[in-house]
Amino acid sequence: MRTTLIAGNWKMNGSRGRTRELIRAIIAGLPQSRGYEVVVCPSFVFLADAAGALEGSGVGLGAQNVCDQDQGAYTGEIAGDMLVELGCRWAIVGHSERRHLYGETNTLVASRFVAAQRHGLTPIFCVGEKLEERESGATEAILDEQLHAVFEQQGAQAFRSAIIAYEPVWAIGTGRTATAEQAQAAHAHIRGRVAEHDARAAAELQILYGGSVKPENARSLFAQPDVDGGLIGGASLQAQDFLAICHAGGPQ
Ligand code: PGA
Repeated sequence: MRTTLIAGNWKMNGSRGRTRELIRAIIAGLPQSRGYEVVVCPSFVFLADAAGALEGSGVGLGAQNVCDQDQGAYTGEIAGDMLVELGCRWAIVGHSERRHLYGETNTLVASRFVAAQRHGLTPIFCVGEKLEERESGATEAILDEQLHAVFEQQGAQAFRSAIIAYEPVWAIGTGRTATAEQAQAAHAHIRGRVAEHDARAAAELQILYGGSVKPENARSLFAQPDVDGGLIGGASLQAQDFLAICHAGGPQ
């Protein structure tokens, strides 16, 4: 049985005060006993504040990226050890904004994935196609390439300790959400590919959907058999919306 996970990707938003305030509101609105996991991923510079505010809440802390190298002359990068020291247990890798705005390649993303696992962080590995790729029927081929890069570097058991987020690029921050059927089809494809390498990992793998998840569409997305929760951008910045999405991850 896979647990539903709801992760908030706060991107480059907030301030120290706003981070603490948002966390306070989220914790206050979550039921004590909930059948799903909640993780928040604030900016690197607010991770220490966030870790303090989250203490004892059962809400997890994740980073928005992690360096592929362990230490040294990598200006502007953040090492896995540093994130672990601040209390992170998850790290997003390969978010489409990193791939498309900052030129991160499949190979670099896979190296970041490997580094996350090397440091004991669970990578939240983002995959997804652009609009033109979907329209030309290339969605599955793109997902395969993105997955292949990780298998190539980390081997067949790469997804034993990882999470995948399927985030169609055309749905991120656009208000346009994949239909529940489109999400299910992509998730089933991803799980099938992982199963070809490692059936046990595929069965246990949490595959999150991301891309304009809102309180109104969360329940139908999460109800799909291969959708195990969501990676939430814009709607995770408003406590009420994020909480409504979390509640949609609870018993139906
Ligand atoms: P969105 O972002 O929910 O604002 O579309 C999702 C993401 O980028 O992870």
